[in-house]
Formats: sequence, structure tokens, C-alpha cells
Amino acid sequence: MQSTRIYLSPPHMSGDERALLLDAFDSNWIAPLGPHVDALEREFAELVGAKEAVALSCGTAALHLALLLLGVGRGDEVLTSTMTFAATANAITYLGAEPVFIDSDEATWNMDPQLLVDELRTRAHHNKLPKAVVVVDLYGQCADYGLIRQACQWYNVPIIEDAAEALGATYDGQPAGTFGELGIYSFNGNKIITASGGGILVTNQKELADRARFLATQARDPAPHYQHSQIGYNYRMSNLLAAVGRGQLRLLEDRVERRRANFEFYRDALADVPGIGFMPEPAACRSTRWLSCITVAPSQFGATREDVRLALGADNIESRPTWKPMHLQPVFSHCRLRGGAVAERIFEQGLCLPSGSNMAEEDLLRVVDIVRTVGHCSPLSRDIYRLAPQRKAA
Ligand SMILES: Cc1ncc(COP(=O)(O)O)c(C=O)c1O
Repeated sequence: MQSTRIYLSPPHMSGDERALLLDAFDSNWIAPLGPHVDALEREFAELVGAKEAVALSCGTAALHLALLLLGVGRGDEVLTSTMTFAATANAITYLGAEPVFIDSDEATWNMDPQLLVDELRTRAHHNKLPKAVVVVDLYGQCADYGLIRQACQWYNVPIIEDAAEALGATYDGQPAGTFGELGIYSFNGNKIITASGGGILVTNQKELADRARFLATQARDPAPHYQHSQIGYNYRMSNLLAAVGRGQLRLLEDRVERRRANFEFYRDALADVPGIGFMPEPAACRSTRWLSCITVAPSQFGATREDVRLALGADNIESRPTWKPMHLQPVFSHCRLRGGAVAERIFEQGLCLPSGSNMAEEDLLRVVDIVRTVGHCSPLSRDIYRLAPQRKAA
């Protein structure tokens, strides 16, 4: 008999979401506007400590608008992380601009601050500063904003923070998504909290938020009839989804704790397996561990990342290779690149293990036993493992 499927990062509803969704439904605000959209914007802004939050149809739309708000256009260059999901780079191309990719650093797996500094310095020298830098917070962890922010301020280049994967994370105690002129988040189905789809744009500048709302509702001029002086978009969040998002937002800290506990479980249970590494977490960062990422060094482990992924798949367990860097994607192969070797290594060896906040201990043990078996290590003794103090504390 096939074992029950373990998904990579499934939705985790608590119950409140259903009541809120029904409230939205019964109120007949079944539109990309309504009281739940307004309330979500208020609650979200308060949670992350931003002055303004704009609820949108998805994170990609939020990125597109953020770039547009900063005046990015045809022929401009925008620096961004090569290690990311395609949406980051795609949004840059929607405006006719070109992404320029920067490698990861080993400490965070996010944009290497030193390479960014080098790139900005060289560009300043040639009078070719980029229009913006889109910094990605990967797998629930902030980039190293100390140096990144200093450099961007020095050269007067605005930052857009792509925190689609990092809602709930902090850097030096400050929430992810609030380190740039604009920050974006995703409520996609696989994220730490979800509304099935949706995105949020945050900023401390009211004019930018007002303009985002204007552009996201087809850029309609104030007139009794439909009048348009600019190109607009249909990018607002549905009131129904905003209701679900509000229910989820209340659970964020619990979800962060649970995902962090998954990661700790994997780290303890695989500590003695040669060749297994873990995504690092520098002291300034508090990662949400949205996805628990390991690396598999074949020379020590005795098998590859793909061997592990296939063995998990054969037991009906979903796992996923870490993002394939953008500079290796055929569609972006013509784009400029700084470095690249770190992201390539993370891609070759990296695997995202099942990370849902609703995973049972038995599910975690099933994953761990398969990884251990592929690496020629004996499965864990259930009884001994249950006494582990870390697990008790979680
Ligand atoms: C880094 C990153 N940026 C942007 C997005 C796009 O968000 P959405 O799917 O809500 O459009 C995602 C994921 O979905 C992502 O992982």
C-alpha cells in the first residue's frame, strides 16, 4: 500500500479563516475591494511595522508595481540575486529592463553584499549605476542588510526587498520586507501563511502606496465616467482572499515556531550523517525556515541530492531541488552576472525537505529515515529520539 503523501509546504488552516471567509461571502463584498482588504492592509502594516500596505493579486504583481513606482523602464538595468524564483527576474523584464545577477554568499545564501559593493563601485566609476536593486530573502531568511543598505544609500540606489518567502523573518530584530523603499510578500499556496494566492506591497511613503492602489485598479482618473490618462493593471486582492489572509496572519508566529522546530528536528536527526549540510543562519538573522534546506556533498554522503530526492519521491514524499540560479536559466542566459559559483554549488547540492507547519513527528521521522538510508546510516531509534530535549522544548 502506498504511504500517505507528505507535501513540501502545504496550506495550514486553523478554523478562523473559514469564519472570516464566510463573513466576506455573506456580506456580498465579493470584489477586489471591501472591508477585509482594508483590514488586512491595516493589520499587515502594523505587524511588519510599515506605514502602508497594499493588498494585491500576487507577489509577482507587487514586484511589477514596485519596479514601476521606482521608474524602472526600457533599457534600465536592475541588480538582483541570481539565486531566486523566476518571478523576481521576470518582473524586471515586464518593464523592458534587464536583470543583472549577483551571486549568493555562503553565510546567508542571499545576495553577496561584497559583490554588490564591487558592482556598484565599478558602475559608479562608469556612470552606469542601476535603476534599483531587488534583494531576495531566500527560504525564510533575510539577506545581510547591514552592508547592502549602506552601499545602496551611499550610491543612492533604491532597494526593493523581495520578501515573498520570508514573511515573519527578522534581521537585527527588524521584520523582513521593510529594508527597502518598497517590500513585497506572497500569499501563494505554498508560503508560510497563505490566502491561496495574493501579494502585499509595503512602503513608508504614502504617495507610493496611493499610486500603487491607483495603478492596480486600472489607473482610473477621478471622473464620474471611466477615464484613463495612464496604463493601469488589474492587480487588487479579492476581498474573499483577504479574509482568509487575515485569519492566517494571526497565526504567523506559531507557524514560524513550527517551521523552525522542523528544521531543528532535521538538524538533530541528521547531525551524524556525513556530507549533509544545512542552510546557515547568521547571528543577526532569525529565519522562519519556510523551507528546511539541506545540502548533500556526494563525496562524503556517498550519493547525490537527486538520489535523495528520488528515494523520497518513491515513498510518496515531496522534496524539491533548491532554486536553479537565474544565470543558468536559458531565458536569462544573455544577462550579465557577478560571480555565480556559490549559487551553482547550492543548486547542485541543495534540497528542500518537507517543511509544512502541520507535519507530524512521524512524518519528519519518515523523511529522516530515507535520507539516512540513502546515506548508508541506520534509521533512528524512535524511543531514544523522543527523549531529545530540543523536541520537548519545541
Ligand atoms: C522569491 C519569490 N519572489 C516572488 C514570488 C512570486 O510570488 P507570487 O507567486 O505570489 O506571484 C515568489 C513565489 O511565489 C518567490 O518565491
